[in-house]
Amino acid sequence: MAAKQRDISISEFFAKNRHLLGFDNPRKALLTAIKEAVDNSMDACEEAHILPEITVSIKQLTEKKFTITIKDNGPGIVSEQIPNIFAKLLYGSKFHSLKMSRGQQGIGISAAGMYGLLTTGEPVQIISRTDKRKKASHCHVQIDTSKNKPLVVLDEDCDFDLPTGTQVTITLEGKYQKGKQSVDEYLVQTAMANPHATIIYNLPDGSVYEYKQQSKKMPFVPVEIKPHPYGVELGLLYKMAKESTSKRLSAFLHHDFSRVSSNMAGGICKKAKLSKNARPASLSLKEAEVLHTAINETKIMAPPVNCIGPIGENELEQGLKRTVEAEFYAASTRKPSVYRGNPFLIEAAIAYGFKTAQNKSNGDGDDEDKQVQMELKRFANRVPLLYQQGACAIHKAVGEINWRNYSLSQSRGTLPMGPMVLMVHIASVWVPFTSESKEAIAHYPEIIKEIKLAVQECGRKLGIYLRKQKRIRQEMAKRGYIETYLPYIGEALQEILLLKDKQVETVVSRLKEVLEKTRQL
Ligand SMILES: Nc1ncnc2c1ncn2[C@@H]1O[C@H](COP(=O)(O)OP(=O)(O)OP(=O)(O)O)[C@@H](O)[C@H]1O
Ligand SMILES: [Mg+2]
Repeated sequence: MAAKQRDISISEFFAKNRHLLGFDNPRKALLTAIKEAVDNSMDACEEAHILPEITVSIKQLTEKKFTITIKDNGPGIVSEQIPNIFAKLLYGSKFHSLKMSRGQQGIGISAAGMYGLLTTGEPVQIISRTDKRKKASHCHVQIDTSKNKPLVVLDEDCDFDLPTGTQVTITLEGKYQKGKQSVDEYLVQTAMANPHATIIYNLPDGSVYEYKQQSKKMPFVPVEIKPHPYGVELGLLYKMAKESTSKRLSAFLHHDFSRVSSNMAGGICKKAKLSKNARPASLSLKEAEVLHTAINETKIMAPPVNCIGPIGENELEQGLKRTVEAEFYAASTRKPSVYRGNPFLIEAAIAYGFKTAQNKSNGDGDDEDKQVQMELKRFANRVPLLYQQGACAIHKAVGEINWRNYSLSQSRGTLPMGPMVLMVHIASVWVPFTSESKEAIAHYPEIIKEIKLAVQECGRKLGIYLRKQKRIRQEMAKRGYIETYLPYIGEALQEILLLKDKQVETVVSRLKEVLEKTRQL
C-alpha cells in the first residue's frame, strides 16, 4: 500500500466526481455549463456597474455534441488571468470575500471547461476585451487534470464587436431537451429575478428568444464585509490570528472582524485575561480557546446588512408578471437576519390563478383548482435553482407552513394545491449550499424560520383574496338560484293573489331589475 500512496489533484478528484459539480448527465451538463457562464457574466457586469446584456447560443454539432457560446458586455478579463480562470479549479476572485455574488467557490467555469475537454477533447475558447482602445485577447486553453494547471493552446489578438466584454465557447457532450429543468427554464427564471438584464437566447433550432431589460435601475451593488465574530469557529479564529497582519491582539479583533470597536476589543482581551498588546501570531491554541469563549460571552451587534440587497417587492411582482399571467400577485421582502455570523435576507412572491392552470381546470371552481400542485421557484443571489428541490431548505419551509389557513388544501409536509407560482429568494454574503453544484440550500434553522415568515406574509394576503373571491362566488350562486326560480315565484304569486298575466310580468321584471342593481353594487 505504501508504494501506492500519492497526491490526488483537485481536478482529478472532480473529473471522477463530476456529479458533485452538476455534470451527472448530458442534459444537466448542458444546463450547468451555461449557468456557470451566465452567472459569471452577470456578476462581472454588476461589479463593474454595467447593466448586463448577455447572449446565449447553443449549436448542435452531432447527436450528442454541442457548442455553447456566452457573450457579455462586462469589464472583460485581463489576458494574464484567462488561463487560470478557465483552466484551473479553485481559482477566482470571490471565495475569500464575504460579498453577495452569484459565484463564490472559484470552480464553476473551469469545471465546465474541464467537462468539455473530457467529453469532446476540445479546449475552451475565450475572447475578452478590457479596453476599447486595445484589441481583444483570443485564447484557447485546457486544463491539465493531473496537475490542475492550465495549458495555453492558442494566444493571439483579435477584433471584438463590443468595447469591453467576454465571450466563452465550450464544446461538450450534452442533450438539449425542453421542460422543467431545461436551459429554457433557467433563462426564463433568470430574466424573472434580474429585471435589469437583457438576455438574448439563440436556440439550437435557429429560433431566438429575447428577454428585454425591464428596468434601467442597477440592482444594489453589494459591499464586502469582514466576518462577524459570532460566526467564527475556534479553528478559524486561531488561523486568522496566525495570519493577521495586526501587531496587537486588540487591533486584530478590531480590524479583522465586523462590529468590534477598539473599546470592545479591549474588553474582550480583559475578559479572556489576555494582554491587548499580545502578538496575535504567537497566540497558543489554549489562549485562542479562551479568546473564543470571551467573544461569545460579549454582546456584539449583528453584522452590517448593507452588504446584501433584495430584488425588491415591486421588482419581484414585475418579474412574475413578465412570465406568469395570473389574477392575483403579492410579494414580501424580510429585513436581513443572520446565520452563523453571515447576514442573509429572504423574500417571496406569489402569483395565483395563472392562465394555463385555469385552462386545464376549465375556469373557476375550487375543486378543479385543487388538482394542480403549487409551482415552487427557488433563487439564491438571483440565480434560479432547478435541481434537488426536495433537499432544499426552501422546500422544507414551504411544506411545513399550514396552507389551510390561507384557504388552500395541502397534505401534511408537502406543497399546497392550487394554480399558483411561489418564488422564494435568499440573498446572502455566503449562501450555504448543500454541495459544490449549488443546487439546494442547507437546513439552517434561522434560514428556515425567515423563509416561513416571508412566505406566510404572502400567504396571508392570498388568503384574504381567496376568501373574498369565495364570498363573491357564493353570493353569485345565491342570485343564480333566485333568478332560476323567479318565474315559478311569479306563477305562485298569480295563484295566491289572483293577478293577471300582465301584472305578473311587471312583478317579475321589477324583481329582475332589483337583482341587477344589487349585482352592480
Ligand atoms: N465573464 C467574466 N467576466 C469577468 N470576469 C470573469 C468572467 N467569468 C469569470 N470571471 C472571473 O473568473 C473567476 C472564476 O470564475 P468561476 O466561475 O470559476 O468561479 P466563481 O464565479 O468565483 O465561483 P463559482 O465556482 O461559485 O462559480 C471569477 O471569480 C471572476 O473573477
Ligand atoms: Mg462562477
